[in-house]
Amino acid sequence: MNKLLILGADGYLGWPTCMYFSKRGYTVIAVDNYFTRNAMVELNCEPLIHPPNLIQRARLWEEKSGKKIIVHIGDVTDYPFLLSIFKEYKPDTVVHYAEQPCAPYSMMDRDKAAFTVKNNLISTLNIVYAVKESNPDCHIIKLGTMGEYGTPNIDIEEGWIEIEHKGRKDKFLFPRQAGSLYHTTKIQDTDMLWFYVRTWGIKVTDLMQGPVYGIYTDESREDHRLLTFFPYDEIFGTVLNRFVTQAVAGYPLTVYGKGNQQRGILNIIDTMQCIYLAAENPPRKGELRILNQFTEIFSINQLAEKVKIVGGKLGYNVKIEHIPNPRVEKEDHYYKASYSGLLKLGLTPHLLTDEVIEELLKFAERYKDNIDREKFYIGINWR
Ligand SMILES: NC(=O)c1ccc[n+]([C@@H]2O[C@H](COP(=O)([O-])OP(=O)(O)OC[C@H]3O[C@@H](n4cnc5c(N)ncnc54)[C@H](O)[C@@H]3O)[C@@H](O)[C@H]2O)c1
Repeated sequence: MNKLLILGADGYLGWPTCMYFSKRGYTVIAVDNYFTRNAMVELNCEPLIHPPNLIQRARLWEEKSGKKIIVHIGDVTDYPFLLSIFKEYKPDTVVHYAEQPCAPYSMMDRDKAAFTVKNNLISTLNIVYAVKESNPDCHIIKLGTMGEYGTPNIDIEEGWIEIEHKGRKDKFLFPRQAGSLYHTTKIQDTDMLWFYVRTWGIKVTDLMQGPVYGIYTDESREDHRLLTFFPYDEIFGTVLNRFVTQAVAGYPLTVYGKGNQQRGILNIIDTMQCIYLAAENPPRKGELRILNQFTEIFSINQLAEKVKIVGGKLGYNVKIEHIPNPRVEKEDHYYKASYSGLLKLGLTPHLLTDEVIEELLKFAERYKDNIDREKFYIGINWR
Protein backbone atom coordinates (compact mmCIF):
# COMPACT_ATOMS: atom_id res chain seq x y z
CA MET A 1 0.00 0.00 0.00
CA ASN A 2 1.29 3.48 -0.84
CA LYS A 3 2.41 5.60 2.08
CA LEU A 4 1.86 9.34 1.90
CA LEU A 5 3.23 11.83 4.39
CA ILE A 6 1.30 15.13 4.45
CA LEU A 7 3.12 18.01 6.13
CA GLY A 8 0.78 20.88 6.96
CA ALA A 9 -2.11 18.40 7.23
CA ASP A 10 -4.31 20.60 9.42
CA GLY A 11 -4.50 23.42 6.85
CA TYR A 12 -7.03 24.63 4.29
CA LEU A 13 -5.63 22.22 1.68
CA GLY A 14 -3.97 19.71 4.00
CA TRP A 15 -7.00 18.22 5.71
CA PRO A 16 -9.05 17.61 2.53
CA THR A 17 -5.93 16.05 0.98
CA CYS A 18 -5.64 13.64 3.93
CA MET A 19 -9.21 12.41 3.39
CA TYR A 20 -8.85 12.30 -0.41
CA PHE A 21 -5.83 9.97 -0.32
CA SER A 22 -7.13 7.94 2.63
CA LYS A 23 -10.35 7.21 0.72
CA ARG A 24 -8.27 6.02 -2.25
CA GLY A 25 -6.37 3.41 -0.25
CA TYR A 26 -3.23 5.29 0.76
CA THR A 27 -1.78 5.03 4.25
CA VAL A 28 -1.80 8.68 5.30
CA ILE A 29 0.52 10.13 7.91
CA ALA A 30 -0.59 13.65 8.85
CA VAL A 31 1.75 16.19 10.49
CA ASP A 32 1.08 19.76 11.61
CA ASN A 33 2.19 22.12 14.38
CA TYR A 34 -1.06 24.19 14.38
CA PHE A 35 0.83 27.30 13.25
CA THR A 36 -2.06 28.59 11.14
CA ARG A 37 -4.77 27.84 13.72
CA ASN A 38 -2.77 29.65 16.37
CA ALA A 39 -1.89 32.59 14.11
CA MET A 40 -5.56 33.05 13.24
CA VAL A 41 -6.42 33.29 16.95
CA GLU A 42 -3.41 35.51 17.69
CA LEU A 43 -4.39 37.98 14.95
CA ASN A 44 -8.11 37.72 15.72
CA CYS A 45 -8.83 36.44 12.20
CA GLU A 46 -10.63 33.23 12.92
CA PRO A 47 -12.22 31.39 10.01
CA LEU A 48 -15.93 31.23 9.27
CA ILE A 49 -16.23 27.78 10.83
CA HIS A 50 -14.13 26.24 13.60
CA PRO A 51 -13.11 22.74 12.60
CA PRO A 52 -12.09 20.20 15.25
CA ASN A 53 -8.36 19.77 15.77
CA LEU A 54 -6.35 17.33 13.66
CA ILE A 55 -6.56 14.46 16.14
CA GLN A 56 -10.32 14.87 16.47
CA ARG A 57 -10.74 15.16 12.69
CA ALA A 58 -8.83 11.94 12.13
CA ARG A 59 -11.07 10.21 14.69
CA LEU A 60 -14.22 11.51 12.98
CA TRP A 61 -12.90 10.36 9.60
CA GLU A 62 -12.18 6.88 10.98
CA GLU A 63 -15.71 6.63 12.40
CA LYS A 64 -17.15 7.62 9.04
CA SER A 65 -14.87 5.78 6.62
CA GLY A 66 -13.34 2.98 8.66
CA LYS A 67 -9.93 4.28 7.53
CA LYS A 68 -7.19 5.45 9.87
CA ILE A 69 -5.15 8.62 9.37
CA ILE A 70 -2.02 8.60 11.56
CA VAL A 71 -1.47 12.00 13.23
CA HIS A 72 1.67 13.56 14.69
CA ILE A 73 1.70 17.08 16.07
CA GLY A 74 5.12 18.64 15.56
CA ASP A 75 7.20 21.20 13.73
CA VAL A 76 8.75 20.43 10.35
CA THR A 77 11.57 22.88 11.12
CA ASP A 78 12.52 20.57 14.04
CA TYR A 79 14.84 18.20 12.17
CA PRO A 80 15.06 15.35 14.73
CA PHE A 81 11.25 15.26 14.88
CA LEU A 82 10.88 15.23 11.09
CA LEU A 83 13.61 12.63 10.57
CA SER A 84 11.98 10.34 13.15
CA ILE A 85 8.71 10.51 11.16
CA PHE A 86 10.51 9.64 7.90
CA LYS A 87 12.42 6.79 9.54
CA GLU A 88 9.34 5.35 11.24
CA TYR A 89 7.01 5.39 8.22
CA LYS A 90 9.30 5.45 5.17
CA PRO A 91 6.79 7.33 2.97
CA ASP A 92 6.80 6.81 -0.80
CA THR A 93 5.59 10.39 -1.28
CA VAL A 94 5.66 13.53 0.84
CA VAL A 95 3.36 16.49 0.21
CA HIS A 96 4.87 19.68 1.60
CA TYR A 97 2.16 22.20 2.57
CA ALA A 98 3.85 23.15 5.86
CA GLU A 99 4.69 26.77 5.19
CA GLN A 100 3.57 30.23 6.21
CA PRO A 101 1.26 30.69 3.20
CA CYS A 102 -0.01 34.28 3.36
CA ALA A 103 1.45 37.25 1.51
CA PRO A 104 -0.06 39.88 3.89
CA TYR A 105 1.26 38.01 6.96
CA SER A 106 4.78 38.13 5.52
CA MET A 107 4.46 41.90 4.98
CA MET A 108 3.16 42.85 8.46
CA ASP A 109 6.43 43.48 10.28
CA ARG A 110 10.07 42.35 10.57
CA ASP A 111 9.35 39.48 12.93
CA LYS A 112 6.66 37.98 10.70
CA ALA A 113 8.92 38.45 7.68
CA ALA A 114 11.76 36.68 9.49
CA PHE A 115 9.44 33.90 10.63
CA THR A 116 8.23 33.38 7.04
CA VAL A 117 11.79 33.10 5.71
CA LYS A 118 12.89 30.74 8.47
CA ASN A 119 9.80 28.56 8.51
CA ASN A 120 9.47 28.17 4.76
CA LEU A 121 13.10 27.64 3.87
CA ILE A 122 14.12 25.47 6.82
CA SER A 123 11.04 23.26 6.41
CA THR A 124 11.97 22.63 2.76
CA LEU A 125 15.64 22.06 3.63
CA ASN A 126 14.71 19.59 6.39
CA ILE A 127 12.50 17.59 4.04
CA VAL A 128 15.30 17.29 1.48
CA TYR A 129 17.73 16.08 4.17
CA ALA A 130 15.20 13.67 5.70
CA VAL A 131 14.49 12.18 2.27
CA LYS A 132 18.21 11.72 1.57
CA GLU A 133 18.82 10.18 4.98
CA SER A 134 15.79 7.86 5.11
CA ASN A 135 14.67 7.05 1.55
CA PRO A 136 16.19 8.90 -1.44
CA ASP A 137 13.47 7.41 -3.70
CA CYS A 138 10.74 9.33 -1.88
CA HIS A 139 8.91 11.72 -4.21
CA ILE A 140 8.66 15.27 -2.82
CA ILE A 141 5.56 17.19 -3.91
CA LYS A 142 6.08 20.81 -3.03
CA LEU A 143 3.54 23.61 -3.30
CA GLY A 144 4.84 26.63 -5.12
CA THR A 145 2.67 29.45 -6.40
CA MET A 146 1.89 31.16 -9.69
CA GLY A 147 2.91 34.31 -7.81
CA GLU A 148 6.54 33.23 -8.23
CA TYR A 149 6.39 34.26 -11.88
CA GLY A 150 4.82 37.64 -11.19
CA THR A 151 3.29 39.34 -14.20
CA PRO A 152 5.98 39.48 -16.91
CA ASN A 153 5.30 41.05 -20.29
CA ILE A 154 5.89 37.69 -21.98
CA ASP A 155 4.05 34.34 -21.90
CA ILE A 156 4.63 32.35 -18.70
CA GLU A 157 5.88 28.85 -19.44
CA GLU A 158 5.52 25.80 -17.22
CA GLY A 159 8.59 26.21 -15.03
CA TRP A 160 11.30 26.30 -17.67
CA ILE A 161 12.35 28.49 -20.58
CA GLU A 162 14.88 27.92 -23.35
CA ILE A 163 17.06 30.97 -23.88
CA GLU A 164 19.23 31.69 -26.87
CA HIS A 165 22.08 34.07 -26.09
CA LYS A 166 24.88 35.08 -28.44
CA GLY A 167 24.18 32.10 -30.66
CA ARG A 168 24.04 29.45 -27.90
CA LYS A 169 21.00 27.87 -26.22
CA ASP A 170 20.25 26.48 -22.76
CA LYS A 171 17.21 25.71 -20.57
CA PHE A 172 16.69 27.65 -17.33
CA LEU A 173 14.10 28.08 -14.63
CA PHE A 174 11.60 30.63 -15.94
CA PRO A 175 12.54 34.12 -14.61
CA ARG A 176 10.79 34.88 -11.35
CA GLN A 177 9.81 38.18 -9.75
CA ALA A 178 7.51 37.85 -6.78
CA GLY A 179 5.16 40.47 -5.37
CA SER A 180 5.58 39.71 -1.65
CA LEU A 181 8.14 38.26 0.75
CA TYR A 182 6.03 35.10 1.07
CA HIS A 183 6.14 34.60 -2.70
CA THR A 184 9.88 35.29 -2.62
CA THR A 185 10.39 32.41 -0.17
CA LYS A 186 8.57 30.19 -2.65
CA ILE A 187 11.09 31.19 -5.33
CA GLN A 188 13.91 30.42 -2.91
CA ASP A 189 12.33 27.01 -2.20
CA THR A 190 12.23 26.23 -5.90
CA ASP A 191 15.87 27.25 -6.31
CA MET A 192 16.87 25.14 -3.31
CA LEU A 193 15.02 22.09 -4.62
CA TRP A 194 16.59 22.53 -8.06
CA PHE A 195 20.03 22.61 -6.42
CA TYR A 196 19.42 19.33 -4.55
CA VAL A 197 17.82 17.69 -7.58
CA ARG A 198 21.01 18.44 -9.54
CA THR A 199 23.32 17.50 -6.68
CA TRP A 200 21.66 14.52 -5.01
CA GLY A 201 19.38 13.25 -7.78
CA ILE A 202 16.18 13.41 -5.71
CA LYS A 203 12.78 13.54 -7.47
CA VAL A 204 10.61 16.59 -6.99
CA THR A 205 7.32 17.96 -8.31
CA ASP A 206 6.89 21.70 -7.72
CA LEU A 207 3.29 22.77 -8.26
CA MET A 208 2.86 26.43 -9.15
CA GLN A 209 -0.61 26.86 -7.77
CA GLY A 210 -2.92 29.84 -8.22
CA PRO A 211 -5.31 31.10 -5.51
CA VAL A 212 -7.71 28.32 -4.46
CA TYR A 213 -11.41 28.85 -3.74
CA GLY A 214 -14.15 26.64 -2.37
CA ILE A 215 -14.99 24.61 0.69
CA TYR A 216 -16.65 21.32 -0.19
CA THR A 217 -14.90 18.18 -1.36
CA ASP A 218 -16.65 14.82 -1.83
CA GLU A 219 -15.34 13.60 1.51
CA SER A 220 -16.71 16.53 3.54
CA ARG A 221 -19.91 17.62 1.78
CA GLU A 222 -22.25 15.46 3.87
CA ASP A 223 -20.66 16.04 7.26
CA HIS A 224 -19.71 19.62 8.11
CA ARG A 225 -17.51 18.47 10.99
CA LEU A 226 -15.11 17.25 8.28
CA LEU A 227 -15.01 20.58 6.44
CA THR A 228 -11.77 22.45 6.10
CA PHE A 229 -11.13 26.00 7.34
CA PHE A 230 -12.81 28.84 5.47
CA PRO A 231 -10.73 31.98 6.10
CA TYR A 232 -12.34 35.10 4.67
CA ASP A 233 -10.26 37.91 6.20
CA GLU A 234 -7.61 40.11 4.57
CA ILE A 235 -4.68 38.05 5.89
CA PHE A 236 -5.64 34.39 5.51
CA GLY A 237 -8.57 34.47 3.07
CA THR A 238 -8.14 34.02 -0.69
CA VAL A 239 -9.91 36.46 -2.98
CA LEU A 240 -13.05 34.60 -4.05
CA ASN A 241 -13.76 33.17 -0.58
CA ARG A 242 -13.49 36.72 0.76
CA PHE A 243 -15.80 38.15 -1.91
CA VAL A 244 -18.63 35.66 -1.28
CA THR A 245 -18.44 36.28 2.48
CA GLN A 246 -18.47 40.05 1.92
CA ALA A 247 -21.51 39.70 -0.36
CA VAL A 248 -23.44 37.78 2.30
CA ALA A 249 -22.43 40.28 5.02
CA GLY A 250 -23.64 43.24 2.92
CA TYR A 251 -20.08 44.60 2.82
CA PRO A 252 -18.75 46.04 -0.47
CA LEU A 253 -16.41 43.66 -2.29
CA THR A 254 -12.94 45.10 -1.67
CA VAL A 255 -11.17 45.28 -5.04
CA TYR A 256 -7.57 46.46 -4.68
CA GLY A 257 -6.84 49.34 -7.07
CA LYS A 258 -8.12 49.10 -10.65
CA GLY A 259 -8.91 45.39 -10.35
CA ASN A 260 -7.43 44.52 -13.74
CA GLN A 261 -4.90 42.25 -12.03
CA GLN A 262 -5.27 38.79 -13.57
CA ARG A 263 -4.78 35.51 -11.74
CA GLY A 264 -5.09 31.82 -12.55
CA ILE A 265 -7.44 30.27 -9.99
CA LEU A 266 -8.82 26.81 -9.17
CA ASN A 267 -11.46 25.00 -7.17
CA ILE A 268 -10.26 23.14 -4.05
CA ILE A 269 -11.69 19.96 -5.64
CA ASP A 270 -9.14 20.37 -8.42
CA THR A 271 -6.27 20.89 -5.96
CA MET A 272 -7.10 17.41 -4.66
CA GLN A 273 -7.03 15.97 -8.18
CA CYS A 274 -3.74 17.71 -9.01
CA ILE A 275 -1.93 16.43 -5.92
CA TYR A 276 -3.27 12.94 -6.56
CA LEU A 277 -2.22 12.97 -10.23
CA ALA A 278 1.24 14.22 -9.26
CA ALA A 279 1.60 11.45 -6.64
CA GLU A 280 0.39 8.70 -8.98
CA ASN A 281 2.70 9.86 -11.80
CA PRO A 282 6.04 10.69 -10.17
CA PRO A 283 8.92 12.22 -12.12
CA ARG A 284 12.10 10.24 -12.62
CA LYS A 285 14.98 10.52 -10.17
CA GLY A 286 17.07 13.62 -10.77
CA GLU A 287 14.11 15.56 -12.22
CA LEU A 288 12.52 18.77 -11.01
CA ARG A 289 9.10 18.66 -12.65
CA ILE A 290 7.25 21.96 -12.54
CA LEU A 291 3.53 22.09 -13.29
CA ASN A 292 1.35 25.20 -13.34
CA GLN A 293 -1.71 24.45 -11.22
CA PHE A 294 -4.81 26.45 -12.10
CA THR A 295 -7.77 25.96 -14.40
CA GLU A 296 -8.99 29.44 -15.42
CA ILE A 297 -7.71 33.00 -15.58
CA PHE A 298 -9.84 35.93 -14.41
CA SER A 299 -9.23 39.54 -13.49
CA ILE A 300 -10.21 40.57 -9.97
CA ASN A 301 -12.93 42.75 -11.53
CA GLN A 302 -14.35 39.73 -13.34
CA LEU A 303 -14.47 37.73 -10.10
CA ALA A 304 -16.19 40.59 -8.27
CA GLU A 305 -18.69 40.99 -11.13
CA LYS A 306 -19.52 37.27 -11.07
CA VAL A 307 -20.20 37.35 -7.31
CA LYS A 308 -22.32 40.48 -7.74
CA ILE A 309 -24.48 38.87 -10.44
CA VAL A 310 -25.03 35.55 -8.66
CA GLY A 311 -25.47 37.32 -5.30
CA GLY A 312 -28.09 39.53 -6.94
CA LYS A 313 -30.04 36.46 -8.08
CA LEU A 314 -30.10 35.26 -4.45
CA GLY A 315 -31.45 38.64 -3.30
CA TYR A 316 -28.22 40.27 -2.13
CA ASN A 317 -27.54 43.87 -3.08
CA VAL A 318 -23.82 43.38 -3.79
CA LYS A 319 -21.66 46.51 -4.15
CA ILE A 320 -18.11 46.64 -5.46
CA GLU A 321 -15.64 49.16 -4.06
CA HIS A 322 -12.24 49.95 -5.52
CA ILE A 323 -9.96 50.76 -2.60
CA PRO A 324 -6.39 52.12 -2.78
CA ASN A 325 -4.18 49.13 -3.46
CA PRO A 326 -2.31 48.16 -0.27
CA ARG A 327 0.01 45.96 -2.37
CA VAL A 328 2.74 46.91 -4.80
CA GLU A 329 1.65 45.17 -8.00
CA LYS A 330 0.85 45.94 -11.63
CA GLU A 331 -2.83 46.75 -12.05
CA ASP A 332 -2.78 46.61 -15.87
CA HIS A 333 -0.62 43.90 -17.36
CA TYR A 334 -0.23 41.21 -19.99
CA TYR A 335 -1.02 37.72 -18.67
CA LYS A 336 -0.77 34.50 -20.56
CA ALA A 337 0.34 31.42 -18.62
CA SER A 338 0.44 27.85 -19.90
CA TYR A 339 -1.04 25.03 -17.83
CA SER A 340 -1.06 21.91 -19.95
CA GLY A 341 0.98 19.51 -17.76
CA LEU A 342 -1.72 18.57 -15.28
CA LEU A 343 -4.35 18.37 -18.03
CA LYS A 344 -2.09 15.86 -19.81
CA LEU A 345 -1.88 13.83 -16.60
CA GLY A 346 -5.70 13.63 -16.57
CA LEU A 347 -7.01 16.66 -14.65
CA THR A 348 -10.74 17.26 -15.23
CA PRO A 349 -11.32 20.92 -14.32
CA HIS A 350 -14.28 22.04 -12.20
CA LEU A 351 -14.87 25.54 -13.51
CA LEU A 352 -16.25 28.60 -11.78
CA THR A 353 -19.90 28.39 -12.83
CA ASP A 354 -22.79 30.38 -11.37
CA GLU A 355 -23.83 27.20 -9.52
CA VAL A 356 -20.41 26.98 -7.83
CA ILE A 357 -20.64 30.61 -6.71
CA GLU A 358 -24.21 30.07 -5.52
CA GLU A 359 -23.14 27.07 -3.44
CA LEU A 360 -20.37 29.15 -1.84
CA LEU A 361 -22.74 32.02 -1.12
CA LYS A 362 -25.18 29.59 0.52
CA PHE A 363 -22.36 28.15 2.60
CA ALA A 364 -21.39 31.64 3.82
CA GLU A 365 -25.06 32.40 4.47
CA ARG A 366 -25.39 29.33 6.69
CA TYR A 367 -22.57 30.58 8.92
CA LYS A 368 -23.37 34.27 8.56
CA ASP A 369 -23.54 34.83 12.32
CA ASN A 370 -19.81 34.05 12.58
CA ILE A 371 -18.75 36.80 10.17
CA ASP A 372 -16.67 39.59 11.69
CA ARG A 373 -16.90 42.53 9.26
CA GLU A 374 -13.86 44.23 10.85
CA LYS A 375 -11.62 41.55 9.36
CA PHE A 376 -12.46 42.14 5.69
CA TYR A 377 -10.06 45.03 5.45
CA ILE A 378 -7.31 45.53 8.00
CA GLY A 379 -5.03 47.59 5.77
CA ILE A 380 -1.73 45.70 5.68
CA ASN A 381 0.31 47.94 3.46
CA TRP A 382 3.25 46.73 1.38
CA ARG A 383 4.93 50.11 1.53
N1 LIG B 1 -4.55 28.19 -0.53
C1 LIG B 1 -4.09 28.71 -1.67
O1 LIG B 1 -4.80 29.41 -2.39
C2 LIG B 1 -2.67 28.44 -2.09
C3 LIG B 1 -2.26 28.89 -3.37
C4 LIG B 1 -0.94 28.64 -3.78
C5 LIG B 1 -0.09 27.93 -2.95
N2 LIG B 1 -0.51 27.52 -1.72
C6 LIG B 1 0.44 26.77 -0.88
O2 LIG B 1 -0.16 25.57 -0.45
C7 LIG B 1 0.29 25.24 0.87
C8 LIG B 1 -0.91 25.03 1.78
O3 LIG B 1 -1.64 26.24 1.82
P1 LIG B 1 -2.96 26.39 2.68
O4 LIG B 1 -3.81 27.39 2.02
O5 LIG B 1 -3.54 25.04 2.98
O6 LIG B 1 -2.37 27.05 4.01
P2 LIG B 1 -2.65 26.68 5.54
O7 LIG B 1 -1.96 27.68 6.38
O8 LIG B 1 -4.10 26.50 5.75
O9 LIG B 1 -1.91 25.28 5.66
C9 LIG B 1 -0.54 25.15 5.97
C10 LIG B 1 -0.46 24.24 7.16
O10 LIG B 1 0.94 24.03 7.46
C11 LIG B 1 1.11 24.12 8.86
N3 LIG B 1 2.50 24.50 9.11
C12 LIG B 1 3.12 25.66 8.77
N4 LIG B 1 4.40 25.63 9.18
C13 LIG B 1 4.60 24.43 9.75
C14 LIG B 1 5.70 23.81 10.36
N5 LIG B 1 6.89 24.43 10.45
N6 LIG B 1 5.56 22.56 10.86
C15 LIG B 1 4.37 21.91 10.79
N7 LIG B 1 3.28 22.45 10.20
C16 LIG B 1 3.39 23.70 9.71
C17 LIG B 1 0.09 25.15 9.33
O11 LIG B 1 -0.22 25.02 10.68
C18 LIG B 1 -1.09 24.83 8.41
O12 LIG B 1 -1.97 23.93 9.00
C19 LIG B 1 1.20 26.38 1.29
O13 LIG B 1 2.55 26.04 1.06
C20 LIG B 1 0.80 27.51 0.38
O14 LIG B 1 1.86 28.40 0.18
C21 LIG B 1 -1.78 27.75 -1.29
